[in-house]
Amino acid sequence: MKITVIGSGYVGTTTALVLANLGHEVIGYDVDTAKVGKLNQGILPFSEPGLDELLQELLSSQRIVFTSDSSSAIKQSEILMISVGTPSTSSGNADLTYLEQVLEVIAAHINAPKIVVTKSTVPIGTNRWMQEQLAAKIDTDQYPVEVISNPEFLREGEALHDSLHPSRTVIGGENSLAIEKVRQLYTLLPTTYFICNYETAEMIKYASNGFLATKISFINEIARLADQMGADIQGVAAGMGMDPRISPHHLYAGIGYGGSCFPKDVDELLHLAREKGLSLHLLKQAKRVNDSQIGWFVQKIESLLPLKGKRVLVLGVTFKEDTDDQRESPGIRLIEQLLDKGVEEIRVIDPTITSLEQIHWSKGFDERGKLKVQVVSEVDAAVTGVHAVLLTTTWKQFAAYPWQEWAGKTESAYLFDGRNFLDPLEMRQYGWHYVGIARGKAT
Ligand SMILES: NC(=O)c1ccc[n+]([C@@H]2O[C@H](COP(=O)([O-])OP(=O)(O)OC[C@H]3O[C@@H](n4cnc5c(N)ncnc54)[C@H](O)[C@@H]3O)[C@@H](O)[C@H]2O)c1
Repeated sequence: MKITVIGSGYVGTTTALVLANLGHEVIGYDVDTAKVGKLNQGILPFSEPGLDELLQELLSSQRIVFTSDSSSAIKQSEILMISVGTPSTSSGNADLTYLEQVLEVIAAHINAPKIVVTKSTVPIGTNRWMQEQLAAKIDTDQYPVEVISNPEFLREGEALHDSLHPSRTVIGGENSLAIEKVRQLYTLLPTTYFICNYETAEMIKYASNGFLATKISFINEIARLADQMGADIQGVAAGMGMDPRISPHHLYAGIGYGGSCFPKDVDELLHLAREKGLSLHLLKQAKRVNDSQIGWFVQKIESLLPLKGKRVLVLGVTFKEDTDDQRESPGIRLIEQLLDKGVEEIRVIDPTITSLEQIHWSKGFDERGKLKVQVVSEVDAAVTGVHAVLLTTTWKQFAAYPWQEWAGKTESAYLFDGRNFLDPLEMRQYGWHYVGIARGKAT
């Protein structure tokens, strides 16, 4: 089938490459000409394991092309798959500006019947609204348009794997022929289809992310108690996760969730409920726990090492490992809280960052704070004279750092592991005063 994927970000590029690899004729369309230029040269504009190779392979066999020409992007394909961003506004609702722009472009260039597939995460009611908008803008007797909701569930860092092995494929719509066409897009993938109406499809996406965010906040709150009681939260989570009704996934205590999805999707659910005069009590508390988790961690650090005037090394700036995505990154929020506590010097290591300008501070970040932060590229010298090392993400290379050698180079060998990533016993053997998230009495 001929497909144009609109929006070449994390989701759009991954989807376009996977669909092309399945044998479809794919155009990737994005308004960002620099991004399009890079993609056509085989350069991925973001970091995602395994995608570079696939991009180069598909380009060299001419099975995919990227363009900023909206007219040809819309005209050439029967299926238009939307994967533009839907970020949060300051009041918590999803900003649909990019989506509205896409509808305008479709209406301006439509030249044949089309199926518009929404991959972007959009508020409940949006696909029906899109169908109405397109019907109002287009002569649908001449060019029928069917909107289909097909939410995306991939995880950054695992995007290719998740797209090739979807946990499920949710297709929401009202027209059975269009639903069947979208189902056929994926017939070569090992997946299970869930066919439903627009609203159900949209809500599956939000409720899934809301549930996963709640699961993380649940284990983080239990970790706060475990920490007081001497229980090892890793063991608690492992033991809980053996129950198939619970499952071990997303049951890792740490410094909280971040990224481009969980925070904004939780906000959107809360916003939607407010609009309907409801209060989602559980989700509100899940958000509250997450918002206070870094503060809890910083308090824990301060109870052992007052931070004012100290030098620290922070490992990890992105919101998680194996991605360059810094949206809503707990690591960045941690750095900002350290500055608030009067830390004198913050050295930062992240595999995706080589300069301070690459760090996307939050809106309230004090410019003077930046003077105290430096990006370190020389791993060996990174800890010389620091009072503590703080780990915020689980990049594999962090585990391979010369921890034994490092311990002797610090001013005081405190190691605060915000992801329970390193082995406490091993680190203590090396001379670190290791503190994880609720690692219990024995560990
Ligand atoms: N990133 C994830 O892990 C993930 C997972 C599941 C679902 N989603 C959802 O998928 C959507 C996309 O997320 P993302 O992380 O890929 O976003 P992104 O910001 O990485 O990419 C969005 C792309 O859309 C382009 N764009 C904006 N306006 C456009 C327009 N009018 N026409 C064409 N292109 C336009 C931007 O230039 C950008 O390249 C969001 O709704 C998100 O919630 C994301």
